[in-house]
Parts: sequence; C-alpha cells; structure tokens
Amino acid sequence: MCGIVGYVGNAQAAPFLLDGMSKLEYRGYDSAGIAVYEKDGIRVEKCVGRLDALRHKLEGKMPVGTMGIGHTRWATHGRPSDRNSHPHTDESGNFVVVHNGIIENYLMLKEQLIAKGQKFASDTDTEIVAHLFADFYEGDMEEAVKKVLRTIEGSYSLVFMCKAEPDKLICTKKDNPLIIGLGEGENFIASDIPAIIAKTRRTYIMSDGEIATVTREGVWVQDINGTPITKKVFEVNWNAEAAEKGGFEHFMLKEIYEQPKAIKDTMRGRLAENGTEINFAELGWTAEDFTGISKIFIVACGTAYHAGIVGKYYLENLARIPVEVDIASEFRYRNPLVDANCLTIVISQSGETIDTLAALKEAKRLGSRTLAVTNVVGSSIAREADQVVYTYAGPEIAVASTKAYTTQLLVMLMLAVYVGRLRGTLSEAKAAELAEGLHKVPEQLHDMLENVDQIKVFARNYGSCLDAFFLGRSLDYAVALEGALKLKEISYIHAEAYAAGELKHGTLALIVEGVPVIVLATQEDVYDKTVSNLQEVKAREAMVIAIALEGDDSIAKYADHVIYIPRAGKELAPLLAVLPLQLLAYYAALTRGCDVDKPRNLAKSVTVE
Ligand code: AGP
Repeated sequence: MCGIVGYVGNAQAAPFLLDGMSKLEYRGYDSAGIAVYEKDGIRVEKCVGRLDALRHKLEGKMPVGTMGIGHTRWATHGRPSDRNSHPHTDESGNFVVVHNGIIENYLMLKEQLIAKGQKFASDTDTEIVAHLFADFYEGDMEEAVKKVLRTIEGSYSLVFMCKAEPDKLICTKKDNPLIIGLGEGENFIASDIPAIIAKTRRTYIMSDGEIATVTREGVWVQDINGTPITKKVFEVNWNAEAAEKGGFEHFMLKEIYEQPKAIKDTMRGRLAENGTEINFAELGWTAEDFTGISKIFIVACGTAYHAGIVGKYYLENLARIPVEVDIASEFRYRNPLVDANCLTIVISQSGETIDTLAALKEAKRLGSRTLAVTNVVGSSIAREADQVVYTYAGPEIAVASTKAYTTQLLVMLMLAVYVGRLRGTLSEAKAAELAEGLHKVPEQLHDMLENVDQIKVFARNYGSCLDAFFLGRSLDYAVALEGALKLKEISYIHAEAYAAGELKHGTLALIVEGVPVIVLATQEDVYDKTVSNLQEVKAREAMVIAIALEGDDSIAKYADHVIYIPRAGKELAPLLAVLPLQLLAYYAALTRGCDVDKPRNLAKSVTVE
C-alpha cells in the first residue's frame, strides 16, 4: 500500500505534493519522491527513508513548476532504497510514473525489455511501466497509457507524466484506490482523501478501468476503448483527521475492515486467480528441498506467535512434518534441538521484533534453513532470513495487530498446501477444496463486516467486566489465544484463553456468575466436547458468548448469545472466527474509553528485549 499524489494548476506543485504525501504516510513510509515539470523538463527527486528525509534533501532547492507527481512507498518488490523509490522513469527520464499496487507479470515484461536492450535502474515492478509508457508513446499520452494497461497484469493506481505534454497528467486504477480533487484552475490526484481535503472537498472517486486526463482546465474520463465516462462529484464531508483513517474512528477499526483486501492482496500471485493452484514463485521449492527436513520450528512473539500455532496445525496436518512452535524470547535460551535438518519459520509483522530477530540468528547459527514471513519488505528479519514470504497487508498502524494476523494465517495455510503437494502428503482434491475455500474468504469477511451491531451490544454490555475467558479446542484454542490478547491489550480487561478441556483442571474455580466466557465452537470434530465444556461454565452461571458455524441452532440452547460465522471448513475457520473477537475487543475498549490505537505501555514494534 503506497501513497500517490499529483498536481496540475497555477500554483507551485512541490508544496502540495509534499504536504499530500505527509497525509498519506500511513499508507507507506519507507521511501518517498516527487517529479516536477520544471522549465526545461521533468526533475525527479527521491530517497529512502521517511518523508522528512526527502524534505531535507530538497531544502534550498525545491523543484519549481506547476505540475508534478509524488509517492510515499510501502515496498512490495525491491527493498527500500533510493533507487527503488518512486517516481520511476524510462531511460530518457522523459516518461515518469508513480504506482501503488503489484504488477504481477513484471518479470516477464522486464525480461522482454532487457532483451530489446533496455536498461533498468531499480528492482521494482513499477519501473517497467515507465519503460512501456515510453515505448508506446507516439504523440498521444492517452493512447500510450491504454497500450500500457493492455500489457500489464495485476493491481495498480498509476499516474503518468511525460515531457512532451507539459500540462497533462493521466491517472488510472485497478483494485487500488485513486481519487481526483476538483479545484479552481487546478486539479489534484491522490490515493486517498486525506491528501486533498485541505484543498477541495469536491472529488471524483475513480473506478477500475477508468482513465482520467487531468489538466489545470479540467478532468476528462474515458474507458480503455475511448468511451467517455461522466463522473458524479462526490462531496467529502470528513474532517482531516478522520480522513486519514478513511472515515473510521481509529486505525484499528480501519485495519479490521481492510482485511478482505489484505487477504486478496496476499493471495494475489500465489493462489491462481481463476483456479486452485497454489505456488510461491519467490521460494521455488521442490520436493527435494524437504527430503532432509525432519522438523519445522515456528518462532514469533505475540499475535505472530498465535499465527504460528495455527501454522503448526496446518503444516502437521497437510504437509505431515513435525512442527514445534516457540515464543521467540524463550526459544533462544532453551538450547533448542535445531540443526541442518530443520526449517525455522519466523513470523513478524514489523520484521523488527528484536526477540524474533535474535531467535532467527540463533536458528541460523545452529545450521537451520530459515524462512521469514513478514509484512515489511527489506526489514531486518526479511534481510536476515535465507528466504522471505511477504504478507501484503499494507502498513499496520494500530498497535493491536489484526490484518497482519489474518494474512499470516493465510500465508501459513498456503505454505502448508504448497509443501503438502510437493511432498505428496496432500491430495489434489483436498488442496483444491482449500483453494476454493480461500477464494471465498475475502467476500465472507466483507459480509461479516456488514453485520457488527450484535457485537457492539455485547461489548457495551460486558465492557465493564474485569475478567474474561476464551475457550476452544484444536484450532479454536489457537484463535482463542489471539482473542484474549486482543481484548486485554486494548481494553485492559484481564482475559485468558484456555484449551476448553483444560478448564476443569483448575481454572474452572475462577468461573463465577456473570463472568463473560467466549467459547469458540467452529471445529466440528471436537464440537461435542466443546459444547460439554460450554455447559460446564454455564452451570457456574457464566455469561457465554459462542462463536459458532452458521446453521448451528443447537448451541443456542446452551449459550447466552451466539455469533455465527460462515461454514468454510475447519482449516479456514480461524480466518473468519478471529474477526468477531477483534471487533469485540475494539468495541469493549471503546466502551471503556481506552486509547485503542495506542494502548498504554505498548509499542507497535518491540525492538528491545
Ligand atoms: C499484537 O496485537 C501485539 N501488538 C504484539 O503482540 C505483536 O504481535 C508482537 O509484538 C509481535 O510483533 P511483530 O509481529 O511485529 O514481530
């Protein structure tokens, strides 16, 4: 997820570009750059680091011109660096683009262009768009852009600029947001409303496949066939701060609602768009890669650790490899039996958690092969591991991890299917069944997010409780752990997760009248036992909220309330069951007046031991 801005008008472009990018830094902040049309051509200035690094670089030498584009990056292809920062140009520097998204067929296109003798300055997917733009340009920007769009595949918001046409920007989108701000004698382009709200509240919200020509005089929109499109003006009524959160009250809620897209983006290029094949081109594993592997270690902290517990289930059941899951801060000191016959997978949203990084280094020292699953390209953990698989959740600003967790689950499930197929331990039919189920997850999450009123009521009613318990068996227990962490870290309610069968071995003593107990009952092979445990706590007058599968009318006889999730199969249930738990925690924290995005004592990335 990156931030894009564009300006064409009568004022200086650079100040708007830099200010607009500062309002979009929540969309990405590992590097930034601008391109401004000066009197004798297009000047590009860009560098790695936060936006302040670019401002510092431009001090006393701000580009002068009334048209330009800008970009603040969240790296997906090509680690954060000066050369990988946007804007990107063709070799002449006369054709310039900024891009948010992923060009899936960029490697094939790049090879074709290199074969034609073209040279590339970066490792990014975006740079091929600038080269194609230059190749296709024959005096008509719109036609050149259409040819580019017929050539690339993937997801994108793009803004184009070229030396031959000094008064025109062209922008277009597919699967990524893009808006146009309508001014007087000036017009604005941005990934999101916060960048333009200080300038205008009149906007066009671009739709997939629309191509807009933006000049200081006006905006013309057409489709790829040249058919004109009349856009309706959308008046923005958000305040600036709300706009940065996309109209949501908190980043956490925004990120909970971004989960359908985060899942889609993380699946893209790995799960066949119209099929069931799962492949990790970035790993290029073969069956031989696993002949020597006797054990997999999964090592992480906090929410990532909870994702690892689900990952253990996936890998052991689908790839039939023994898995141990460790809390990173414990792993390093327990003298783990790690050797060259092990694969160690470290999971980390930030890629900077010092305990996880240290565990990774320890695993390497002991001879293990290592794989990082992280959300930050070029992070310390990404660079330290032998191989890396990225989640494409986009920047996660709220301290409480939500979309990172679900995309971690997705990666672990896809990896287990991938390895299971390689090792021959997973049938083609079962793999296809899981893949078909994965295709439905974004829509299922989206539909669940349309009906959250019941959860708000529960959170309001039980937000004053001092204790809460989360129970589950098998995968439900793994998700219960995450639900408990979410609740305690943002609402400060003391919450514990227990394997449902374990409660009677002591903790049942804590169950008294009215204490809220959330029971996850999505795993059908242990359903009856789970319901028995539910009845155990009900018999002690607990207040029970069940998370159950649609159509399960029976559980309603025992629980006080039931939150239903779609039937998606046992392996996919965690991706859906965690959503109501995230929302419960969010609304409970709200009820208690807690600082949801920045809970006390916590940091987004724990870089101290
Ligand atoms: C998640 O809600 C917490 N904020 C925290 O447990 C987090 O998951 C943990 O610190 C690990 O962070 P990482 O994924 O960036 O390594």
